[in-house]
Amino acid sequence: MRKKIVAGNWKMNTSIAEGVELAKGIVAKVNEISKGVSLIVAPPFTHLTSVAEVLKDSPVALSAQNCADQPKGAFTGEVAASMLKDAGCTYTILGHSERRQYYGENSEKLVRKMALAFENGLKVIFCVGEKLEERNEGRHFDVVASQISEVLFGLTPKQMAHVIIAYEPVWAIGTGVTATSEQAQEIHAFIRKTLAAHFGDDVADNTTILYGGSCKPSNAKELFACPDIDGGLIGGASLKVDDFIGIAQSF
Ligand code: 13P
Repeated sequence: MRKKIVAGNWKMNTSIAEGVELAKGIVAKVNEISKGVSLIVAPPFTHLTSVAEVLKDSPVALSAQNCADQPKGAFTGEVAASMLKDAGCTYTILGHSERRQYYGENSEKLVRKMALAFENGLKVIFCVGEKLEERNEGRHFDVVASQISEVLFGLTPKQMAHVIIAYEPVWAIGTGVTATSEQAQEIHAFIRKTLAAHFGDDVADNTTILYGGSCKPSNAKELFACPDIDGGLIGGASLKVDDFIGIAQSF
């Protein structure tokens, strides 16, 4: 049975002290959510070791927001997958639309990043999603299918057990406009069908697919009730303990 997960992507927010407080607040309330739901937080790089210390004896897992596409060496400003593992991460997010849009993240780089993440024992939260004009032109299925096939189809079924997919329509991120549960379910089901066609039903049924984009306590219940939506990747609402926990209580 695939896992239900709520992950908080803090993006470039919080001081280290604020991040530590946020993590402490989440840990303090983790027993208020159902045992079948796992929590992940993804703070900025500079916060990872401090937040790891807070999460140490808790069930909340630590994720980075990105990793380098090279193992080590002269790559100024980059952070290697091995360093993230060393800092206490279990996961890294890869392919977030903000990375794709502003930092030239493409499938070729993502293939290398994914391989390095696995080599270093990290699991991956792999993000896909279409832009508004792509949806308006009716190309959202094609865009998402390409994002998936270009990066995930080179993996083995065993590696796929370490991948969570996050469907985040770019037009819903930070805009307050959420995909309707019908729109989200439709594309989640499509993603699962795409996985089934390539990897078989086992991988498709066991892959957790999260929804991301203006998800908050008030809309999480309806989204999470959909059969192919297994949780959320939360931006803005993950910066407030009560909102993040409230979303995790929405299953
Ligand atoms: P918001 O929840 O702020 O829309 O962000 C979603 C997101 O990009 C999570 O990765």
